[in-house]
Amino acid sequence: MRLAGKKIVLGLTGGIACYKVAELTRALGKAGAQVQVVMTQAACQFITPVTMQALSGNTVFTDQWDARIGNNMPHIDLTRDADAIVIAPCSTDFLFKLAHGACDDLLSTLCIARPAHIPLLVAPAMNVEMWQNPATQRNVALCRADGIHLMGPAAGEQACGETGMGRMLEPDQLLSEIIASFQTKSLLGQHLLITAGPTFEPIDPVRGITNLSSGKMGYAIAQAAWEAGAQVTLISGPTALATPYGVKRVQVQTAQQMHDAVMAALKQQTQQAFIAVAAVADWRVANASTQKLKKTGEHDTPVLQFAQNPDILASVAALPDAPYCVGFAAESENLLEYAAAKRVRKNIPLLVGNIGHQTFGQDDNELVLFDAQGATQLPRADKQTLAIALIQELAKRLHA
Ligand code: C5P
Repeated sequence: MRLAGKKIVLGLTGGIACYKVAELTRALGKAGAQVQVVMTQAACQFITPVTMQALSGNTVFTDQWDARIGNNMPHIDLTRDADAIVIAPCSTDFLFKLAHGACDDLLSTLCIARPAHIPLLVAPAMNVEMWQNPATQRNVALCRADGIHLMGPAAGEQACGETGMGRMLEPDQLLSEIIASFQTKSLLGQHLLITAGPTFEPIDPVRGITNLSSGKMGYAIAQAAWEAGAQVTLISGPTALATPYGVKRVQVQTAQQMHDAVMAALKQQTQQAFIAVAAVADWRVANASTQKLKKTGEHDTPVLQFAQNPDILASVAALPDAPYCVGFAAESENLLEYAAAKRVRKNIPLLVGNIGHQTFGQDDNELVLFDAQGATQLPRADKQTLAIALIQELAKRLHA
């Protein structure tokens, strides 16, 4: 319920992407938002107010002369208790209207008449040539300069059969953008590198050694960091999780690959912080077979030999220009004592402790932050809530 208590005025303008906004309306409602739909006449050509009323659970407004509002001023009253106005899809024509302050229907008038503190988010949706047209790009620049937040568009196949920029973002991506718009931008412009998930160390081409890390905590942290305004690179071991929207994901399998990917990312871009959430295997199989091991006899068992993997966190912390390093410690007991000692041993400014078997694969967790000042508890909560709290704590330390 990441939008609990939020009121969103959702404006639809003319475009085939209107059908996707039906899905967005549901998603906003499921996230806890109250949705007030306003449609232009062109939008009504693509989807009916009946559909949008049923999905939003609220009366839909389409006309600036609508007498159902007591004072007959829907362009004022509809936004006064709103937390955000979202225009999706936003047509070429509507971008022009926003850029120039046109007020010739309810939705455009309502946008101009909104109080300055209400954010306006728009999701452009149009043909590639319409998007690339210099006139449109001029309007986009004017909208941006006025503080209007553009969500997308994306590139891809279009309803008209052409391909290129101009596709509206998908409903789940728009939802991520809307949720992010309400988050404190404590990491704006910062680059964060995060490892997450387990590693997989092959025994042979079909078998391997891994662990129970689901990747959920690391992915939640990556998402929270993006929501806080950071540019996030997520180096991930094998997980079943979807890449959080806005995050760049690099997929690896083994600890050595994770190490190499982390070092490559650091070379490519200076990172302000490195958060090592991954449950990295301490050992790999030194005598891994290139062919599948066969069961040859009744009592025959393969003998595996192990070699130590590089400690990624320690290698990064030892770099001369190391980013601010955050480690994770999954202990099975004596968390306070072991984790505090581990922070000093690993020579990192911040270590996040949790009880391993109580968190692996779970949706909630409990964290203790250890730094030079001592221990800070983040009480049991879902991993998303903890990730947001952890990112705020990190931001405080980065800015200190
Ligand atoms: O020493 P231990 O494995 O308990 O330390 C855990 C922390 O170190 C985690 O942050 C983990 O991501 C990181 N780590 C690593 N490379 C390893 C082992 C652990 O980056 N080979």
